[in-house]
Amino acid sequence: MRRLKSTNYNSRRLFNIFSQGTDLHTLANLNFISRIENQTVSTFHSADSNSKGPYRQNLHSVFFSQKRFFTTKLLPHLPVVDAVIEKALATMSSLPLRKTAIVYVHHPLQTSVNLMTGLLRLGARPKNIFVLGKHYSECPSIVKQMMDLGVHYQPCSVQIGLGKFYQSFTRDINWLWFNTLTHIEKDTEEVLVLDHGGHALAFIPAQILQKYKVVGIEKTTGGLINLDDQGLPPFPIIGVANCAAKKILESPLIAEAVVTKLLPIIPIKNTNLTCGVVGYGAIGKAVASKLLAMGHKVIVYDNDHYQLKAIKTEGLTKTNELSALISSADYIFGCTGRDITKSIDIFRLASKDKTLISCSSEDKEFLSLLQLIQQKNNGGVATRPLNDVNYHTDMSATIRILKGGFPINFDNSGESVPANDIQLTRALVLAGVLQAIRIFKKPDLLAQGELYALDPSMQNFVVKEWLKHQPASRFPKNITDQFQNKQWIIEHSGGVHAPCDILEDCSVELDVNKEPFCENLKFP
Ligand SMILES: NC(=O)c1ccc[n+]([C@@H]2O[C@H](COP(=O)([O-])OP(=O)(O)OC[C@H]3O[C@@H](n4cnc5c(N)ncnc54)[C@H](O)[C@@H]3O)[C@@H](O)[C@H]2O)c1
Repeated sequence: MRRLKSTNYNSRRLFNIFSQGTDLHTLANLNFISRIENQTVSTFHSADSNSKGPYRQNLHSVFFSQKRFFTTKLLPHLPVVDAVIEKALATMSSLPLRKTAIVYVHHPLQTSVNLMTGLLRLGARPKNIFVLGKHYSECPSIVKQMMDLGVHYQPCSVQIGLGKFYQSFTRDINWLWFNTLTHIEKDTEEVLVLDHGGHALAFIPAQILQKYKVVGIEKTTGGLINLDDQGLPPFPIIGVANCAAKKILESPLIAEAVVTKLLPIIPIKNTNLTCGVVGYGAIGKAVASKLLAMGHKVIVYDNDHYQLKAIKTEGLTKTNELSALISSADYIFGCTGRDITKSIDIFRLASKDKTLISCSSEDKEFLSLLQLIQQKNNGGVATRPLNDVNYHTDMSATIRILKGGFPINFDNSGESVPANDIQLTRALVLAGVLQAIRIFKKPDLLAQGELYALDPSMQNFVVKEWLKHQPASRFPKNITDQFQNKQWIIEHSGGVHAPCDILEDCSVELDVNKEPFCENLKFP
């Protein structure tokens, strides 16, 4: 216990333990972090890094015991995430995130806690992690779990009306950066931004750029759209959102989760319904084929005519006119990541009842309509932006917008997609973290304001591990086989491919004494 009191963080944690009560797991984690803070660091400092034998052995025993500390009944078992961390830890001779501050914007879901413990296992210090959630997915018990780890958690502010997510989230992002600037550890050398929507990357303060090396990771297509619209910031960003593994393998999982969440809400088994899917990208394709497989009539619109032309799926109706889809569909699934209600008259003049369902992010998909409703009912609808919203059209029909226009698969349950599935995405983000660790040591890459593709070898590794935990019949073999082909992965991933040797022996290139954080990150 004496050792536990040795840092401010631990003092605070002890205070929490005694004031709020805790469980053995929390104590175990605390004890581990304390060991990392004290014993491991002194091991590093006292060891002669040229004589790697005992030095490594010591570290490996700490890394081994580390896993036990972070294994708890509270967290889902994510073997793929564990595999990525253990591959990294098996070959590195230091805790690579020890001097890195992490700004982490995300959905506070159960599996995000696994990701966070992954960052801790790679050496990140809880008090140097700054976290912001999104109010439409915030689950109080998960937030508590994160805060129990000792990270800074920025509470989400209240949204002040329909269609006003951007305003409240921007306010929260700026608070997050303010807190980061205020509490960042003095010995920090690098700042890693794990973004979700592109806002943390867009609002990064100049003081951070002037003082630290910065690498970003963008996890959402919506974030890449924002970056595209606003221009890239002057530091490297790794595109997890548009990597082949996420685009191709995650989307069917989202579609399944969306439909599962819908089953209790709408009479999805009534096959007389017409479902309209707007946006035929990764998510839209998966949602459309899921609805088709359930026997519904499905009509599709995409404003990219090449996407529409390429549709060959049997049974799918396509249209070049959004208005045609809107007027005929009973259920409309927004899968674009953009505002599809800009042509507001199509909605104002609808003569048939319909339900709008967002499968994308934030409140973007039906933004103009939400703002119109807010304007019309000013003062009457502002208090509960997550409730379903009814809009009465000029033609006496009712348009129901589920969940205030926020994506349907998020609620406050702490899970948007089953953990065994979504661990793919968490593992890909961790792969991005390993790539960022490498980029921090590469001045030529670090100097570029560039969007880099997620390393193909890491994608290959993650997919291989993930498929071990999936039923063989779930994905067509001709697709999964492609992930053995690194050239194919590069061609199907967005961003510039900058070979980064993440999976190769870098000891020749790096002087271990000068570059203690990235020695021999080696994968098969
Ligand atoms: N709900 C979730 O759990 C979840 C998970 C992953 C991604 N997303 C979000 O889903 C959205 C879509 O992601 P994606 O990977 O399918 O993107 P994508 O880029 O692959 O597909 C978007 C498609 O929409 C089309 N489009 C764009 N604007 C349009 C418009 N105004 N009208 C009609 N079509 C339009 C594009 O041409 C494209 O084909 C993003 O916002 C992403 O962040 C949500």
